[in-house]
Amino acid sequence: MERSHFYRCFLSLVLVQYCFIATSTALKTTNIATDQSTLLALKAHITSDPYQFLSKNWSSNSATSSVVCDWIGVKCGSKHQRVTTLNISNTSLTGTLPPELGNLSFVVSLDIESNYFHGNLPQELSRLCRLRFIRLSFNNFTREIPMWFGRFPELQFLSLSHNNFSGLIISSISDLSKHLDFDGNSLRGKFLNRLETSVA
Ligand SMILES: *[C@@H]1O[C@H](CO)[C@@H](O)[C@H](O)[C@H]1NC(C)=O
Ligand SMILES: *[C@@H]1O[C@H](CO)[C@@H](O)[C@H](O)[C@H]1NC(C)=O
Ligand SMILES: *[C@@H]1O[C@H](CO)[C@@H](O)[C@H](O)[C@H]1NC(C)=O
Ligand SMILES: *[C@@H]1O[C@H](CO)[C@@H](O)[C@H](O)[C@H]1NC(C)=O
Ligand SMILES: *[C@@H]1O[C@H](CO)[C@@H](O)[C@H](O)[C@H]1NC(C)=O
Ligand SMILES: *[C@@H]1O[C@H](CO)[C@@H](O)[C@H](O)[C@H]1NC(C)=O
Repeated sequence: MERSHFYRCFLSLVLVQYCFIATSTALKTTNIATDQSTLLALKAHITSDPYQFLSKNWSSNSATSSVVCDWIGVKCGSKHQRVTTLNISNTSLTGTLPPELGNLSFVVSLDIESNYFHGNLPQELSRLCRLRFIRLSFNNFTREIPMWFGRFPELQFLSLSHNNFSGLIISSISDLSKHLDFDGNSLRGKFLNRLETSVA
């Protein structure tokens, strides 16, 4: 018990340290133009946008790249003027998440609830180590919940409910985050019962 607590603290210290180094590196090597090309890569993976949320609004025509901060569903932090929030929930989008999304280095909140996103979650998302809030519920994501979901050092809220995830819930997820919801998938795992009862 004592021992596993020690290892858990040690691991989270290592993760926080790693995140600090990764984002200071990102600050030197990338800029708002990186965030713009990341969002355009996401847009390119949208196969249906019936209400033209992104197709009209997420456009790179403007000369000033910081305009990306005014795109629908996008917010930038005041400190570094980098994308910190992406909220495209409930926009009837169909598509997949591209690996480029892992370049959105400063994002803390990712909400794409209630769309028709499908496929698997790209491994590159694991690089988004500042994420505190992740809501992917009510989509069609498949395969197993990736191991790296347990490694976001700042994670406070995670909802993957009502998708088509299968397999096991990794115990490291339940160690690290505060609010969890995995309802409506085909999952097994020793933490599942406790989670379902703790999430109303
Ligand atoms: C995108 O939407 C935002 C917020 O509704 C608006 O301020 C902005 O002008 C729009 N941009 C374009 C290119 O339509
Ligand atoms: C995203 O936007 C929806 C609709 O505006 C809102 O209900 C939801 O709370 C937002 N998500 C976050 C994480 O703020
Ligand atoms: C989602 O969008 C639909 C249509 O725009 C709206 O009627 C509904 O209230 C929205 N749901 C949420 C949870 O925001
Ligand atoms: C963004 O991510 C992709 C795939 O992970 C990578 O190939 C590309 O070089 C990255 N682009 C930038 C500008 O960092
Ligand atoms: C998920 O995929 C199934 C089968 O392709 C489809 O019938 C269903 O409407 C999809 N649901 C969502 C929320 O994308
Ligand atoms: C869920 O995923 C399985 C394969 O993992 C697939 O056979 C099934 O059609 C999917 N269901 C929906 C609703 O997409």
